[in-house]
Amino acid sequence: MKKKVTVVGAGHVGSSLAQMIVQEGSADAVLFDIAEGIPQGKALDLSEACPLWGSSSSIVGTNDYAGTAGSEVIVVTAGLPRKPGMSRDDLLFANAKVVSGVVENMAKGSPGAVIIIVTNPMDVMTQLSLKVSGFDSKKVVGMGGILDSARFRTFVAWEMGLSPRDVEALVLGGHGDLMVPMPRFTTVKGVSLTTLLGTERIDALVQRTRNGGAEVVSLLKTGSAYYAPAAATYQMVRSILFDEKRMLPCAAYLNGEYGVRGVYTGVPVLLGSGGVERIIELSLTEQEGREFAGSVDAVRQLSGKLGI
Ligand code: APR
Repeated sequence: MKKKVTVVGAGHVGSSLAQMIVQEGSADAVLFDIAEGIPQGKALDLSEACPLWGSSSSIVGTNDYAGTAGSEVIVVTAGLPRKPGMSRDDLLFANAKVVSGVVENMAKGSPGAVIIIVTNPMDVMTQLSLKVSGFDSKKVVGMGGILDSARFRTFVAWEMGLSPRDVEALVLGGHGDLMVPMPRFTTVKGVSLTTLLGTERIDALVQRTRNGGAEVVSLLKTGSAYYAPAAATYQMVRSILFDEKRMLPCAAYLNGEYGVRGVYTGVPVLLGSGGVERIIELSLTEQEGREFAGSVDAVRQLSGKLGI
């Protein structure tokens, strides 16, 4: 039997992710949404694509929590996306209500699951989900750094006129305006970006990365990015389902690592069937450390507004 993955929220991010899961045949999927008919209709449409993709995965859509029980992985994308002029933080109260309701119900039916939070403001929503689920912190993880790093990789590749496949990048800290792209740990086929480009060009790429989500929002006008967020989340789903133990930047609960305690923020982790199996600690320069601390502080302040 295939493993079961529940995707909560059958909107742009959730349905794109569900497509990746069933198209590759990685798992059986459940698409859950509060809107009646939407998850059922999208699941039916995706089921009918399976013969064409040569996939033997199944997917069902539901508005009933009972259908999600026994999931190995639960991905939460439910909530509002950004509109132009909004920061991720502006979604705080509306999405906190959605996420806490969803996580409370999902956790009961799937007590052994790993929960991946995508809904923004993601770091705080992940912190909230830890509290509401009562799960071990290894089993609750947020998606942000992989997406931000993919944006950085794209901009570096365009700048240098080479394949994004050959660019590796690392972005640490919260998935917000104060995220910390790390040029020192960004490489083209193993060669550090800091030896390949001048400071001014690197600074411009870093700034574009920080603004990457808002750049898409300003073009779409009606919502936020979804193809790259779904693809980033899919990397996490795969690494957990197949126990790949990939090293990926994710929002993890820090318990003394990086000198930080009791807060979620983006750091490199090993993701496997147990969830966050290890947190990788990097030694940061003074400036990197300062920026990282500022980003963590912003997450703490926002969590404080929710009283968590
Ligand atoms: N339970 C289940 N689903 C819900 C609930 C709820 N309580 N509340 C809202 N939803 C569903 C909506 O019905 C909608 O189908 O969540 C879905 C959100 O989809 P979109 O509006 O298309 O938003 P999307 O672009 O997918 O973004 C979702 O991910 O990247 C983040 O910032 C983004 O927080 C946003 C989230």
